[in-house]
Amino acid sequence: MPDLSINFAGIKSPNPFWLASAPPTNSGYQVMKAFDAGWGGAVWKTLGVPVVNVSSRYGSVNYRDKRMMGFNNIELISDRPLADNLREIEEVKKRFPHHAVIASLMVQSRQEWHDIVRDAENAGSDGIELNFGCPHGMCERGMGSAVGQEPEVLQTIVEWVMEVARIPVIVKLTPNISDITEPALAARRGGANAISLINTIQSIVGVDLDSFAPYPIVDGQGSNGGYCGPAVKPIALNMVKNCAQHPGVRLPISGIGGIETWRDAVEHILLGASSVQVCTAAMHYGFGIIREMTSGLEQYMLEKNFHTIYDMVGRALPNVKPWEELNLHYKVTAHIDAAKCIGCQLCYTACEDGAHQAIRLQAGTRTPEIIDENCVGCNLCSLVCPVEQCITMERRDDGTRHQTWQQRTAAHDIPTTFNDERAGGRHHWVPEPAAALGKERDKTLPGKARQYDSEPVKQRVRE
Ligand SMILES: Cc1cc2nc3c(=O)[nH]c(=O)nc-3n(C[C@H](O)[C@H](O)[C@H](O)COP(=O)(O)O)c2cc1C
Ligand code: SF4
Ligand code: SF4
Repeated sequence: MPDLSINFAGIKSPNPFWLASAPPTNSGYQVMKAFDAGWGGAVWKTLGVPVVNVSSRYGSVNYRDKRMMGFNNIELISDRPLADNLREIEEVKKRFPHHAVIASLMVQSRQEWHDIVRDAENAGSDGIELNFGCPHGMCERGMGSAVGQEPEVLQTIVEWVMEVARIPVIVKLTPNISDITEPALAARRGGANAISLINTIQSIVGVDLDSFAPYPIVDGQGSNGGYCGPAVKPIALNMVKNCAQHPGVRLPISGIGGIETWRDAVEHILLGASSVQVCTAAMHYGFGIIREMTSGLEQYMLEKNFHTIYDMVGRALPNVKPWEELNLHYKVTAHIDAAKCIGCQLCYTACEDGAHQAIRLQAGTRTPEIIDENCVGCNLCSLVCPVEQCITMERRDDGTRHQTWQQRTAAHDIPTTFNDERAGGRHHWVPEPAAALGKERDKTLPGKARQYDSEPVKQRVRE
């Protein structure tokens, strides 16, 4: 069987799955229950000077039949006394000595940082996570994302922490910044042992149309909150990749954001994370999701012949390139499998109005036809098609030519004037504007196949 255990910057854990600092790690009861279910580690709900929270606290974006596709909160750090949390950390560590317990911390002054770091260590924590990410409530008090957005301040606080820390220190980054590598580099300069990302994204999930208040509503009013859940995974993956690829960062990364299944976790790992953290999915479905996560990960590792987590870390990174390094000669076009098509014609509408008028309807059948010559290979039709593998993108170039934008620039072969013949779009057929209206349309649009065969279209395609 593959070995799921990790040693993350010195923090050992039986598997890479940790609960993120949030309500599921608010108490010893919850963390013990989670460890018992199979979670490898837990980052305790952020400790500091206890706060007072509001009610209500959460909002959600429900998309069609999916509830909590995006999740939003205006909750602050732990509202429980520090002594209670520390006592429970100690208790958990006694019962689960081989699991990872990481204390998430957020205070203000140098002395407070020194005191709380020592307290967390004395309670038996395996590591410390500095919460420089909370984008609501705490940042207005000069903490959380207010620190994460100021690399110099972040570095200074990391230095304060490193003055006393004897256990590994992880810096948790905020995504509410234009370049995530700047605070990551500051964390490294400050001496941190690892980084974790992302914390929540500043957001308003919706407005009540009757009371005119943003969700979640607190006595008729609301506030911006922090966004997380499945909706944020693409942003998290990109930021994990940015940190993993940056030659100056070179720190272990704990990937957080939108992880709900083992597949999401593997994506974070392939882009450079060596542990992963989960919040919204545990709040939505409970601790039991860990069973599917560990068995799915094990199965995947067996199939791919990965023996340890480290065989996978960053495996996708060599394939993530800047746009100008992609092959401009690679060419795909859409192909419809008529046997699978249910005739909904969503692909036709999408291509007709939202892409390149490269799909036409045919007399006597509801299955549309791709006009190969007009298809730019944008993928839109395959993305809207509701039938799995009904529209596939097939390679049309012979694979012998490879030229990037960078190479074309060096060869002085890129468009340089407004009407340059070398522009890609000069070579695609587009209908005359007036063809969008009334009778003209029937005469000229490829979608109206009854007036059409593919010849006239071909003639209008500039080779
Ligand atoms: C209700 C709630 C409370 C949270 N509290 C904290 C916190 O105290 N400290 C912290 O570092 N992150 C906190 N977070 C952020 C999560 O740890 C995590 O970074 C974020 O939710 C993204 O992960 P997810 O998409 O799996 O939810 C909280 C998130 C939620 C939803
Ligand atoms: S979207 Fe898919 S199923 Fe619907 S008509 Fe197009 S090919 Fe057929
Ligand atoms: S890939 Fe794009 S251009 Fe080609 S048929 Fe589909 S939607 Fe149209």
